[in-house]
Amino acid sequence: MKTIIEPFRIKAVEPIRMTTREERLKLIEKADYNLFALHSEDVLIDLLTDSGTSAMSAKQQAALMSGDESYAGSPSFFRFEAAVKNLMPFKHVIPTHQGRAAEAILFSILGGPGKTIPSNTHFDTTRGNIEASGAEGHDLVIAEGLDPSSEHPFKGNMDLERLQAFLADHGDAVPCVMLTVTNNAGGGQPVSLANIRSVARIAHAHKKPFIIDGCRFAENAYFIKMREDGQGDRPVKDIVGDMFALADGMTMSAKKDAFANIGGWLALNDDDLAQAARNRLILTEGFPTYGGLAGRDLDAIAQGLTEIIDEDYLRYRLRSMAYIGERLEALGVPTVRPTGGHAVFVDARRMLSHIPTSQYPGQSLAVAMYVEGGIRSCEIGTVMFGLKPDGTEVEAPMDLVRMAFPRRVYTQSHADYIVEVFEEIAARKDSLRGMRITWQPTAMRHFTAKFAPL
Ligand code: F0G
Repeated sequence: MKTIIEPFRIKAVEPIRMTTREERLKLIEKADYNLFALHSEDVLIDLLTDSGTSAMSAKQQAALMSGDESYAGSPSFFRFEAAVKNLMPFKHVIPTHQGRAAEAILFSILGGPGKTIPSNTHFDTTRGNIEASGAEGHDLVIAEGLDPSSEHPFKGNMDLERLQAFLADHGDAVPCVMLTVTNNAGGGQPVSLANIRSVARIAHAHKKPFIIDGCRFAENAYFIKMREDGQGDRPVKDIVGDMFALADGMTMSAKKDAFANIGGWLALNDDDLAQAARNRLILTEGFPTYGGLAGRDLDAIAQGLTEIIDEDYLRYRLRSMAYIGERLEALGVPTVRPTGGHAVFVDARRMLSHIPTSQYPGQSLAVAMYVEGGIRSCEIGTVMFGLKPDGTEVEAPMDLVRMAFPRRVYTQSHADYIVEVFEEIAARKDSLRGMRITWQPTAMRHFTAKFAPL
Protein backbone atom coordinates (compact mmCIF):
# COMPACT_ATOMS: atom_id res chain seq x y z
CA MET A 1 0.00 0.00 0.00
CA LYS A 2 1.16 3.53 -0.76
CA THR A 3 -0.30 5.13 2.36
CA ILE A 4 1.57 4.46 5.57
CA ILE A 5 -1.26 4.71 8.10
CA GLU A 6 -0.98 5.86 11.69
CA PRO A 7 -0.28 2.49 13.39
CA PHE A 8 -2.68 3.18 16.27
CA ARG A 9 -6.31 3.85 17.03
CA ILE A 10 -7.42 6.76 19.19
CA LYS A 11 -9.02 5.93 22.54
CA ALA A 12 -9.09 9.33 24.24
CA VAL A 13 -9.32 12.68 22.52
CA GLU A 14 -8.63 16.31 23.41
CA PRO A 15 -10.88 18.74 21.57
CA ILE A 16 -9.20 21.59 19.71
CA ARG A 17 -10.88 24.95 20.36
CA MET A 18 -11.48 26.38 16.90
CA THR A 19 -10.68 30.07 16.30
CA THR A 20 -11.19 32.38 13.31
CA ARG A 21 -8.55 34.42 11.50
CA GLU A 22 -10.06 37.62 12.99
CA GLU A 23 -9.79 36.21 16.52
CA ARG A 24 -6.22 35.13 15.93
CA LEU A 25 -5.24 38.59 14.64
CA LYS A 26 -6.41 40.03 17.98
CA LEU A 27 -4.83 37.22 20.04
CA ILE A 28 -1.39 37.56 18.46
CA GLU A 29 -1.48 41.35 18.84
CA LYS A 30 -2.32 40.88 22.53
CA ALA A 31 0.63 38.45 22.76
CA ASP A 32 2.91 41.16 21.30
CA TYR A 33 3.51 38.88 18.30
CA ASN A 34 5.44 36.40 20.46
CA LEU A 35 4.07 32.84 20.06
CA PHE A 36 5.37 31.86 23.50
CA ALA A 37 2.94 34.40 25.01
CA LEU A 38 -0.14 32.74 23.49
CA HIS A 39 -2.41 30.60 25.61
CA SER A 40 -2.17 27.08 24.21
CA GLU A 41 -5.98 26.87 24.06
CA ASP A 42 -5.83 29.57 21.38
CA VAL A 43 -3.65 27.35 19.17
CA LEU A 44 -5.13 24.87 16.66
CA ILE A 45 -2.00 22.85 15.89
CA ASP A 46 0.79 23.23 18.42
CA LEU A 47 4.18 22.51 16.88
CA LEU A 48 6.22 24.54 19.36
CA THR A 49 7.99 21.38 20.53
CA ASP A 50 7.92 17.59 20.42
CA SER A 51 9.11 17.56 24.03
CA GLY A 52 6.75 16.25 26.69
CA THR A 53 3.80 16.75 24.34
CA SER A 54 3.43 13.21 22.98
CA ALA A 55 0.35 11.04 23.47
CA MET A 56 0.77 8.26 25.98
CA SER A 57 -0.55 4.82 25.08
CA ALA A 58 -3.27 2.97 26.96
CA LYS A 59 -0.53 0.80 28.45
CA GLN A 60 1.39 3.87 29.63
CA GLN A 61 -1.76 5.29 31.21
CA ALA A 62 -2.26 1.94 32.94
CA ALA A 63 1.39 1.95 34.06
CA LEU A 64 0.74 5.26 35.86
CA MET A 65 -1.55 3.39 38.22
CA SER A 66 1.12 0.83 39.08
CA GLY A 67 3.57 3.59 39.96
CA ASP A 68 4.91 3.02 43.46
CA GLU A 69 5.68 6.25 45.27
CA SER A 70 8.08 4.85 47.87
CA TYR A 71 10.91 7.25 48.60
CA ALA A 72 13.60 4.56 48.32
CA GLY A 73 13.79 1.29 46.42
CA SER A 74 10.49 1.60 44.59
CA PRO A 75 9.68 -1.19 42.11
CA SER A 76 8.92 1.59 39.60
CA PHE A 77 12.61 2.47 39.66
CA PHE A 78 13.66 -1.10 38.99
CA ARG A 79 11.23 -1.37 36.06
CA PHE A 80 12.60 1.92 34.70
CA GLU A 81 16.21 0.83 35.16
CA ALA A 82 15.57 -2.54 33.47
CA ALA A 83 13.82 -0.86 30.52
CA VAL A 84 16.77 1.49 29.97
CA LYS A 85 19.32 -1.32 30.31
CA ASN A 86 17.31 -3.48 27.91
CA LEU A 87 18.13 -0.94 25.19
CA MET A 88 21.31 0.75 26.39
CA PRO A 89 23.90 -1.42 28.11
CA PHE A 90 25.09 1.07 30.77
CA LYS A 91 26.12 0.02 34.25
CA HIS A 92 24.57 2.94 36.15
CA VAL A 93 21.22 4.55 35.33
CA ILE A 94 20.40 7.72 37.27
CA PRO A 95 16.91 9.19 36.87
CA THR A 96 16.46 12.98 36.56
CA HIS A 97 13.40 15.19 36.15
CA GLN A 98 14.37 16.02 32.57
CA GLY A 99 17.31 16.04 30.17
CA ARG A 100 18.84 19.33 31.26
CA ALA A 101 19.08 18.10 34.86
CA ALA A 102 21.21 15.17 33.65
CA GLU A 103 23.38 17.69 31.77
CA ALA A 104 23.70 19.95 34.81
CA ILE A 105 24.85 17.03 36.98
CA LEU A 106 27.31 15.74 34.38
CA PHE A 107 28.95 19.12 33.77
CA SER A 108 29.04 20.01 37.45
CA ILE A 109 31.52 17.10 37.61
CA LEU A 110 33.25 17.17 34.20
CA GLY A 111 32.99 20.88 33.38
CA GLY A 112 34.67 23.91 34.94
CA PRO A 113 36.80 26.86 33.85
CA GLY A 114 39.43 26.06 31.23
CA LYS A 115 37.59 22.93 29.98
CA THR A 116 36.25 22.57 26.45
CA ILE A 117 33.74 20.00 25.17
CA PRO A 118 33.32 19.09 21.50
CA SER A 119 30.10 17.72 19.96
CA ASN A 120 28.43 17.63 16.54
CA THR A 121 26.11 20.38 17.83
CA HIS A 122 25.32 20.97 21.48
CA PHE A 123 21.62 21.60 22.12
CA ASP A 124 21.03 25.00 23.83
CA THR A 125 20.53 23.58 27.33
CA THR A 126 23.64 21.39 26.93
CA ARG A 127 25.71 24.39 25.88
CA GLY A 128 24.08 26.45 28.63
CA ASN A 129 25.01 23.91 31.30
CA ILE A 130 28.57 23.60 29.96
CA GLU A 131 28.96 27.38 30.01
CA ALA A 132 27.33 27.69 33.45
CA SER A 133 30.13 25.46 34.78
CA GLY A 134 32.71 27.84 33.28
CA ALA A 135 33.63 25.51 30.39
CA GLU A 136 33.14 26.03 26.64
CA GLY A 137 31.20 24.01 24.08
CA HIS A 138 32.41 23.45 20.50
CA ASP A 139 30.30 22.34 17.54
CA LEU A 140 32.11 20.21 14.95
CA VAL A 141 29.31 18.99 12.67
CA ILE A 142 30.24 18.18 9.04
CA ALA A 143 29.99 21.10 6.57
CA GLU A 144 26.90 19.55 4.90
CA GLY A 145 25.14 19.82 8.26
CA LEU A 146 25.18 23.61 7.93
CA ASP A 147 23.89 23.68 4.34
CA PRO A 148 20.05 23.57 4.36
CA SER A 149 19.85 22.29 0.77
CA SER A 150 22.44 19.47 1.07
CA GLU A 151 20.84 16.01 0.69
CA HIS A 152 23.60 14.21 2.64
CA PRO A 153 21.93 11.21 4.39
CA PHE A 154 23.68 11.80 7.74
CA LYS A 155 23.92 15.55 8.16
CA GLY A 156 24.30 15.14 11.91
CA ASN A 157 27.70 13.44 11.55
CA MET A 158 30.72 14.77 13.43
CA ASP A 159 33.55 16.10 11.26
CA LEU A 160 36.15 13.48 12.22
CA GLU A 161 39.17 15.38 10.95
CA ARG A 162 38.21 18.46 12.93
CA LEU A 163 37.60 16.30 16.01
CA GLN A 164 41.09 14.76 15.65
CA ALA A 165 42.64 18.18 15.26
CA PHE A 166 40.59 19.54 18.17
CA LEU A 167 41.79 16.78 20.49
CA ALA A 168 45.38 17.17 19.30
CA ASP A 169 45.25 20.93 20.04
CA HIS A 170 43.15 20.98 23.23
CA GLY A 171 43.50 17.39 24.52
CA ASP A 172 44.30 18.27 28.12
CA ALA A 173 41.32 20.62 28.39
CA VAL A 174 38.78 18.11 27.01
CA PRO A 175 36.96 16.15 29.77
CA CYS A 176 34.70 14.21 27.34
CA VAL A 177 33.49 14.02 23.75
CA MET A 178 29.75 14.38 23.08
CA LEU A 179 27.42 13.57 20.20
CA THR A 180 23.73 14.52 19.85
CA VAL A 181 21.48 11.93 18.12
CA THR A 182 19.57 13.10 16.19
CA ASN A 183 21.15 16.51 15.83
CA ASN A 184 18.21 18.67 16.91
CA ALA A 185 19.86 22.07 16.40
CA GLY A 186 20.85 21.05 12.86
CA GLY A 187 17.32 20.08 11.83
CA GLY A 188 16.80 16.69 13.50
CA GLN A 189 19.45 15.16 11.24
CA PRO A 190 20.79 11.67 12.00
CA VAL A 191 24.29 10.45 12.78
CA SER A 192 25.44 7.24 11.06
CA LEU A 193 26.55 4.18 13.01
CA ALA A 194 29.91 4.37 11.22
CA ASN A 195 30.32 7.95 12.43
CA ILE A 196 29.36 7.03 16.01
CA ARG A 197 31.94 4.23 15.84
CA SER A 198 34.66 6.58 14.60
CA VAL A 199 33.87 9.24 17.21
CA ALA A 200 34.11 6.56 19.92
CA ARG A 201 37.43 5.30 18.52
CA ILE A 202 38.94 8.80 18.38
CA ALA A 203 37.67 9.72 21.87
CA HIS A 204 39.04 6.48 23.33
CA ALA A 205 42.39 6.85 21.54
CA HIS A 206 42.70 10.13 23.47
CA LYS A 207 41.43 8.43 26.67
CA LYS A 208 38.31 10.60 26.80
CA PRO A 209 34.89 9.33 27.83
CA PHE A 210 32.35 9.42 25.00
CA ILE A 211 28.87 10.62 26.00
CA ILE A 212 25.79 10.49 23.74
CA ASP A 213 22.89 12.94 24.10
CA GLY A 214 20.30 10.33 23.14
CA CYS A 215 17.02 12.32 23.20
CA ARG A 216 15.86 11.03 19.80
CA PHE A 217 17.83 7.76 19.68
CA ALA A 218 15.07 5.66 18.10
CA GLU A 219 14.45 8.09 15.24
CA ASN A 220 18.23 8.11 14.68
CA ALA A 221 18.35 4.30 14.69
CA TYR A 222 15.56 4.06 12.12
CA PHE A 223 17.40 6.50 9.84
CA ILE A 224 20.44 4.19 10.16
CA LYS A 225 18.25 1.24 9.20
CA MET A 226 16.85 3.10 6.18
CA ARG A 227 20.01 4.77 4.93
CA GLU A 228 23.19 3.00 6.05
CA ASP A 229 24.79 0.19 4.08
CA GLY A 230 24.37 -3.20 5.70
CA GLN A 231 21.82 -2.02 8.30
CA GLY A 232 18.56 -2.44 6.37
CA ASP A 233 17.76 -5.92 7.66
CA ARG A 234 18.70 -5.38 11.28
CA PRO A 235 16.16 -4.85 14.08
CA VAL A 236 16.13 -1.26 15.37
CA LYS A 237 16.68 -2.60 18.87
CA ASP A 238 20.04 -4.10 17.80
CA ILE A 239 21.07 -0.85 16.11
CA VAL A 240 20.18 1.06 19.31
CA GLY A 241 22.25 -1.45 21.31
CA ASP A 242 25.24 -0.94 18.99
CA MET A 243 24.98 2.86 19.21
CA PHE A 244 25.14 2.91 22.99
CA ALA A 245 27.59 0.02 23.46
CA LEU A 246 30.14 2.39 21.89
CA ALA A 247 29.57 5.09 24.52
CA ASP A 248 30.69 5.51 28.12
CA GLY A 249 27.56 7.35 29.11
CA MET A 250 24.46 9.18 27.94
CA THR A 251 22.19 12.06 28.83
CA MET A 252 18.55 11.66 27.97
CA SER A 253 15.31 13.60 27.91
CA ALA A 254 12.52 11.03 28.26
CA LYS A 255 10.18 13.77 26.99
CA LYS A 256 11.19 12.83 23.45
CA ASP A 257 11.87 9.20 22.48
CA ALA A 258 10.35 7.67 25.63
CA PHE A 259 6.83 9.06 25.02
CA ALA A 260 6.79 10.59 28.52
CA ASN A 261 5.46 13.96 29.62
CA ILE A 262 8.40 14.46 31.96
CA GLY A 263 11.64 12.70 32.84
CA GLY A 264 15.20 11.96 31.85
CA TRP A 265 18.32 10.15 32.94
CA LEU A 266 22.08 10.16 33.12
CA ALA A 267 23.69 6.78 32.42
CA LEU A 268 27.35 6.02 33.04
CA ASN A 269 29.74 3.06 33.12
CA ASP A 270 32.41 4.55 35.36
CA ASP A 271 31.79 3.77 39.05
CA ASP A 272 33.50 6.88 40.45
CA LEU A 273 31.76 9.21 38.06
CA ALA A 274 28.41 7.58 38.86
CA GLN A 275 29.09 7.94 42.58
CA ALA A 276 29.84 11.66 42.15
CA ALA A 277 26.72 12.07 40.00
CA ARG A 278 24.50 10.40 42.62
CA ASN A 279 25.91 12.67 45.32
CA ARG A 280 25.01 15.68 43.22
CA LEU A 281 21.62 14.14 42.37
CA ILE A 282 20.68 13.93 46.04
CA LEU A 283 21.36 17.65 46.44
CA THR A 284 19.51 18.83 43.36
CA GLU A 285 16.98 16.18 42.23
CA GLY A 286 16.30 13.55 44.86
CA PHE A 287 17.18 10.09 46.11
CA PRO A 288 18.84 7.91 43.43
CA THR A 289 15.79 5.66 42.96
CA TYR A 290 13.48 8.51 41.96
CA GLY A 291 15.70 11.45 40.95
CA GLY A 292 13.10 14.21 40.75
CA LEU A 293 10.36 12.01 39.29
CA ALA A 294 7.24 10.39 40.68
CA GLY A 295 7.13 6.59 40.62
CA ARG A 296 4.31 6.83 38.09
CA ASP A 297 6.57 8.81 35.73
CA LEU A 298 9.25 6.11 35.96
CA ASP A 299 6.66 3.49 34.99
CA ALA A 300 5.39 5.59 32.06
CA ILE A 301 8.97 5.86 30.78
CA ALA A 302 9.60 2.12 31.22
CA GLN A 303 6.52 1.31 29.13
CA GLY A 304 7.29 4.07 26.58
CA LEU A 305 10.73 2.58 25.95
CA THR A 306 9.16 -0.70 24.87
CA GLU A 307 6.93 1.17 22.38
CA ILE A 308 9.41 3.59 20.81
CA ILE A 309 11.40 0.84 19.06
CA ASP A 310 8.27 -0.42 17.28
CA GLU A 311 9.31 -0.28 13.64
CA ASP A 312 5.78 0.30 12.31
CA TYR A 313 5.65 3.37 14.52
CA LEU A 314 9.09 4.62 13.44
CA ARG A 315 8.30 4.07 9.75
CA TYR A 316 5.10 6.11 10.14
CA ARG A 317 6.88 8.78 12.21
CA LEU A 318 9.69 9.47 9.75
CA ARG A 319 7.40 9.13 6.75
CA SER A 320 4.95 11.69 8.11
CA MET A 321 7.79 14.22 8.52
CA ALA A 322 9.07 13.50 5.00
CA TYR A 323 5.54 13.80 3.58
CA ILE A 324 5.10 17.34 4.89
CA GLY A 325 8.62 18.24 3.73
CA GLU A 326 7.94 16.96 0.21
CA ARG A 327 4.62 18.75 -0.09
CA LEU A 328 6.13 22.04 1.09
CA GLU A 329 9.02 21.71 -1.38
CA ALA A 330 6.47 21.05 -4.15
CA LEU A 331 4.83 24.37 -3.25
CA GLY A 332 8.20 26.09 -3.57
CA VAL A 333 8.54 26.52 0.20
CA PRO A 334 12.25 25.95 0.96
CA THR A 335 12.92 23.54 3.84
CA VAL A 336 15.99 22.05 5.50
CA ARG A 337 16.67 18.94 3.42
CA PRO A 338 16.31 16.01 3.82
CA THR A 339 13.48 16.32 6.36
CA GLY A 340 14.64 15.33 9.85
CA GLY A 341 13.09 12.97 12.36
CA HIS A 342 10.98 15.14 14.65
CA ALA A 343 10.47 18.39 12.82
CA VAL A 344 10.16 20.19 9.53
CA PHE A 345 12.35 23.30 9.35
CA VAL A 346 11.33 26.04 6.88
CA ASP A 347 14.06 28.32 5.53
CA ALA A 348 12.32 31.65 6.20
CA ARG A 349 15.27 33.72 5.02
CA ARG A 350 15.00 32.18 1.56
CA MET A 351 11.21 32.07 1.47
CA LEU A 352 10.82 35.73 2.53
CA SER A 353 13.93 37.04 0.79
CA HIS A 354 12.39 40.54 0.62
CA ILE A 355 12.56 40.82 4.43
CA PRO A 356 16.07 41.68 5.66
CA THR A 357 17.49 39.53 8.45
CA SER A 358 17.45 42.57 10.75
CA GLN A 359 13.64 42.49 10.40
CA TYR A 360 13.37 38.83 11.52
CA PRO A 361 11.89 36.91 8.55
CA GLY A 362 11.50 33.81 10.77
CA GLN A 363 9.32 35.68 13.27
CA SER A 364 7.28 37.16 10.43
CA LEU A 365 6.63 33.69 8.97
CA ALA A 366 5.81 32.17 12.37
CA VAL A 367 3.28 34.94 13.03
CA ALA A 368 1.73 34.47 9.56
CA MET A 369 1.37 30.71 10.20
CA TYR A 370 -0.53 31.48 13.38
CA VAL A 371 -2.78 34.14 11.88
CA GLU A 372 -3.53 32.15 8.74
CA GLY A 373 -3.99 28.72 10.28
CA GLY A 374 -3.62 28.78 14.07
CA ILE A 375 -0.31 26.89 13.83
CA ARG A 376 2.24 27.56 16.56
CA SER A 377 5.87 27.03 15.53
CA CYS A 378 9.17 28.40 16.75
CA GLU A 379 11.62 30.85 15.17
CA ILE A 380 15.16 29.50 15.22
CA GLY A 381 17.19 32.34 13.83
CA THR A 382 18.12 35.93 14.50
CA VAL A 383 15.49 36.40 17.21
CA MET A 384 16.82 33.37 19.09
CA PHE A 385 20.55 33.82 18.50
CA GLY A 386 20.97 37.47 17.44
CA LEU A 387 21.46 39.16 20.82
CA LYS A 388 24.98 38.86 22.23
CA PRO A 389 25.72 39.11 25.98
CA ASP A 390 27.28 42.59 25.42
CA GLY A 391 23.95 43.79 23.97
CA THR A 392 25.08 43.92 20.33
CA GLU A 393 22.86 42.52 17.59
CA VAL A 394 24.26 40.00 15.08
CA GLU A 395 22.83 37.98 12.20
CA ALA A 396 22.22 34.28 12.97
CA PRO A 397 23.71 31.80 10.44
CA MET A 398 20.17 30.87 9.31
CA ASP A 399 16.62 32.13 9.84
CA LEU A 400 14.53 29.00 10.23
CA VAL A 401 11.06 28.22 11.52
CA ARG A 402 10.73 24.84 13.25
CA MET A 403 7.54 22.82 13.23
CA ALA A 404 8.27 20.10 15.82
CA PHE A 405 5.70 17.30 15.90
CA PRO A 406 4.45 15.77 19.14
CA ARG A 407 4.47 11.97 18.82
CA ARG A 408 1.19 10.14 18.02
CA VAL A 409 -0.83 13.37 18.44
CA TYR A 410 -1.67 14.74 14.99
CA THR A 411 -3.03 12.84 11.99
CA GLN A 412 -2.67 12.97 8.22
CA SER A 413 -5.49 15.52 7.88
CA HIS A 414 -3.66 17.83 10.28
CA ALA A 415 -0.61 17.44 8.01
CA ASP A 416 -2.68 18.26 4.92
CA TYR A 417 -4.15 21.28 6.69
CA ILE A 418 -0.65 22.56 7.51
CA VAL A 419 0.29 22.27 3.83
CA GLU A 420 -2.87 24.22 2.87
CA VAL A 421 -1.94 26.98 5.31
CA PHE A 422 1.42 27.23 3.57
CA GLU A 423 -0.32 27.36 0.20
CA GLU A 424 -2.17 30.48 1.39
CA ILE A 425 0.96 32.06 2.82
CA ALA A 426 3.10 31.24 -0.23
CA ALA A 427 0.51 32.91 -2.50
CA ARG A 428 0.82 36.22 -0.67
CA LYS A 429 4.30 35.96 0.75
CA ASP A 430 5.49 39.18 -0.90
CA SER A 431 2.95 41.10 1.16
CA LEU A 432 4.37 39.80 4.48
CA ARG A 433 6.28 42.46 6.37
CA GLY A 434 9.19 42.27 8.78
CA MET A 435 8.99 42.77 12.53
CA ARG A 436 10.73 45.03 15.01
CA ILE A 437 11.42 44.35 18.68
CA THR A 438 9.70 46.84 21.00
CA TRP A 439 11.03 45.32 24.25
CA GLN A 440 13.54 42.60 25.08
CA PRO A 441 15.28 41.08 28.10
CA THR A 442 19.08 40.91 28.25
CA ALA A 443 19.32 37.17 27.47
CA MET A 444 17.21 34.33 25.96
CA ARG A 445 15.08 37.02 24.37
CA HIS A 446 12.97 34.73 22.17
CA PHE A 447 10.89 33.57 25.15
CA THR A 448 9.67 36.99 26.28
CA ALA A 449 10.53 39.68 23.70
CA LYS A 450 7.72 41.89 22.40
CA PHE A 451 7.36 42.62 18.70
CA ALA A 452 5.43 44.90 16.37
CA PRO A 453 4.90 44.46 12.62
CA LEU A 454 6.66 46.98 10.37
N1 F0G B 1 19.17 17.62 24.24
C1 F0G B 1 18.45 17.78 23.12
C2 F0G B 1 19.00 17.32 21.81
C3 F0G B 1 17.16 18.36 23.18
O1 F0G B 1 16.46 18.51 22.06
C4 F0G B 1 16.67 18.78 24.44
C5 F0G B 1 15.36 19.42 24.55
C6 F0G B 1 17.46 18.57 25.58
C7 F0G B 1 18.71 17.98 25.45
C8 F0G B 1 16.99 18.97 26.97
O2 F0G B 1 16.02 18.12 27.42
O3 F0G B 1 13.99 19.58 27.70
O4 F0G B 1 14.19 17.38 28.89
O5 F0G B 1 15.57 19.30 29.59
N2 F0G B 1 14.73 19.89 23.57
C9 F0G B 1 13.38 20.47 23.55
C10 F0G B 1 13.07 21.00 22.17
C11 F0G B 1 13.14 21.47 24.63
O6 F0G B 1 12.02 21.66 22.02
O7 F0G B 1 13.83 20.75 21.24
P1 F0G B 1 14.88 18.62 28.46
